[in-house]
Amino acid sequence: MKVYDIAVIPGDGIGKETVPVGQKVMETVADIHGGLKFNWHSFDWGCEYYLKKGRMMPDDGIKTLSQFHHIFLGAVGNPQVPDHISLWGLLIPIRRQFQQYINLRPVQVLRGLTSPLKQVDATIKFIIVRENTEGEYSSVGGIVNRGLESGETALQVSSFSRTGCERVIRYAFERAKQTERKRLVAATKSNGIIHTMPFWDRIFKEIAAEYPDVDAELTHVDALAAKMILKPQAYDVIVASNLFGDILSDLGGAVMGSIGIAPSANLNPEGRYPSMFEPVHGSAPDISGKSIANPLGQVWTACLLLEHIGEYSLARRVLDVVQDLLEERIVTPDLGGRYKTKDVEHALITRLKNV
Ligand code: NAI
Ligand code: MG
Repeated sequence: MKVYDIAVIPGDGIGKETVPVGQKVMETVADIHGGLKFNWHSFDWGCEYYLKKGRMMPDDGIKTLSQFHHIFLGAVGNPQVPDHISLWGLLIPIRRQFQQYINLRPVQVLRGLTSPLKQVDATIKFIIVRENTEGEYSSVGGIVNRGLESGETALQVSSFSRTGCERVIRYAFERAKQTERKRLVAATKSNGIIHTMPFWDRIFKEIAAEYPDVDAELTHVDALAAKMILKPQAYDVIVASNLFGDILSDLGGAVMGSIGIAPSANLNPEGRYPSMFEPVHGSAPDISGKSIANPLGQVWTACLLLEHIGEYSLARRVLDVVQDLLEERIVTPDLGGRYKTKDVEHALITRLKNV
């Protein structure tokens, strides 16, 4: 019996509605498998916790999480708590302390979905590899002349380490090597950002020399954003810094038809620390509590967890059933349907059991 101890952080807003669906799906496929078991341990950390206790998680939160194989998270964010507090108090410490330097974000127009880019639907399938521990999201900087009307100045320093760039770029080349098209595009902006981005480009070219069979290209991120709309089928693997990867992957979510579907994995590839699996979307305060959150982003995220632990056929089985539901239009309002979160869950579980 393979047993995995999973820390569950539903977080805020719709995270509390979508996480149980993901868990239910994983339990169902574990039962079908017979030799697989998930032990869940749930933590009530997030903005509500912050409003009661003044912090997003306990001081020893990271130590507590380190005892688990992996982390399954919903979303954090609440209009009563500034977003930089919720992000820097929970998600960013987890990503950094556990060296989850790869943020994997697949983009694919699943069977049954209609992309806003209708002509090319079925051929859109690529993966975004986002750097997840450094870069533009840095705590270095400050405010000079705070409060002075004319002189007040904000400074924010990016940090791109050689190790940080090399490991994410190398991971992306390894991914690209395994795909059919063997194509890798790196997002850059070395025309405007003259220190970090030329450094990133230089490392990309160095590593490209080690992978002669991968078709590698650097593209400025602004042009890349435009091409993702005009010619999304051209992409296979995209590697990007923390900020660029964040923006491109929301665009990827839109290309798929709804951000409510997009999955993401924060990986520590060496397995020294737990990895964390969470959908791309946030806590969606505008729809939270209405039971209409699309749980499929969380469910596809569960598939990424299953793949990460080597259960490829279970992951495929879940994604197949997800696509059956999309084709049958058993979907929530964000995809134009009339179904509730629980209806989608019920349909998923029933079909999974009957495959
Ligand atoms: P959001 O992703 O929460 O919502 C954007 C729009 O997409 C909203 O109209 C929402 O209703 C819709 N949406 C998102 N997920 C959906 C789903 N599963 N089903 C149906 N509709 C869905 O992004 P927003 O509004 O920028 O942020 C809200 C809060 O979430 C903020 O506090 C933000 O900081 C936080 N956030 C947290 C993230 C995380 O925990 N990883 C990621 C992004 C935002
Ligand atoms: Mg984002």
